[in-house]
Amino acid sequence: MSRLPGHVAVIMDGNGRWAHRRGRERIFGHHEGVKAVRKTVDAAAELGVKYLTLYAFSKENWNRPDEEVSALMDLMIESINNETNTLIKKEISLQVIGDLSRLSENVRKRLHQTMKLTSGGTRMRLVVALSYSSRWEISEACRRIAAAVKDGRMNLNDINEETVTASLATSDIPDPELMIRTSGEKRISNFLLWQLAYTELYFTEKLWPDFGKEDFYKAVADFQKRERRHGKTSEQIADNR
Ligand code: FPP
Repeated sequence: MSRLPGHVAVIMDGNGRWAHRRGRERIFGHHEGVKAVRKTVDAAAELGVKYLTLYAFSKENWNRPDEEVSALMDLMIESINNETNTLIKKEISLQVIGDLSRLSENVRKRLHQTMKLTSGGTRMRLVVALSYSSRWEISEACRRIAAAVKDGRMNLNDINEETVTASLATSDIPDPELMIRTSGEKRISNFLLWQLAYTELYFTEKLWPDFGKEDFYKAVADFQKRERRHGKTSEQIADNR
């Protein structure tokens, strides 16, 4: 328990393939994916993980067929709203990161409502990346920093790793220590590119709807066996230098 990752990020992949293998529509896989989300949230909170970030919908996902996009959006918003009371009970706060400007006013309002209602939860923060892409996030940070320099609120010399980090959507969240991707794909797919600099990556063949608590524990146990050097040598780590 002493080597528990404080922040775990997850790329939930394989819903479409899971449904396809059963001769069903892709959206059936997304519905089953919600059950895996519940199990993962419970497993993380029960273990004592402090931050769990889920890649729910990328900016690139807007290019999927309209029918799938609209069904997936409805499913996510409905799930988040249905779980509000459970999140409050379990003391889990919700934060949504991403370009929410493409969502309808009504959906944005409902998401903000859930974030506000759960904001007192201190057991774990559940971060849902929705309409999110890392290059978009970094570009936005550049724009904010450039504007601050232009207005004289910031000096050029103040631009460094700390100020860039502070300009990201994840400014108050520590970097993930472990990133899990399901479905056998070994890519980052425009997810938290800046924040994953030193993160341990874990890939599993399991498709997302099949991912359960045991699979989460396995990923955490694998993380616990690894030596994290952050650029140092093994000897320095052993000597605690
Ligand atoms: C990737 O599978 C999955 C998604 C794009 C959607 C993930 C969303 C959920 C699990 C819904 C619930 C989320 C929350 C936060 C309530 P894919 O469709 O790319 O699968 P494929 O690679 O097999 O086609």
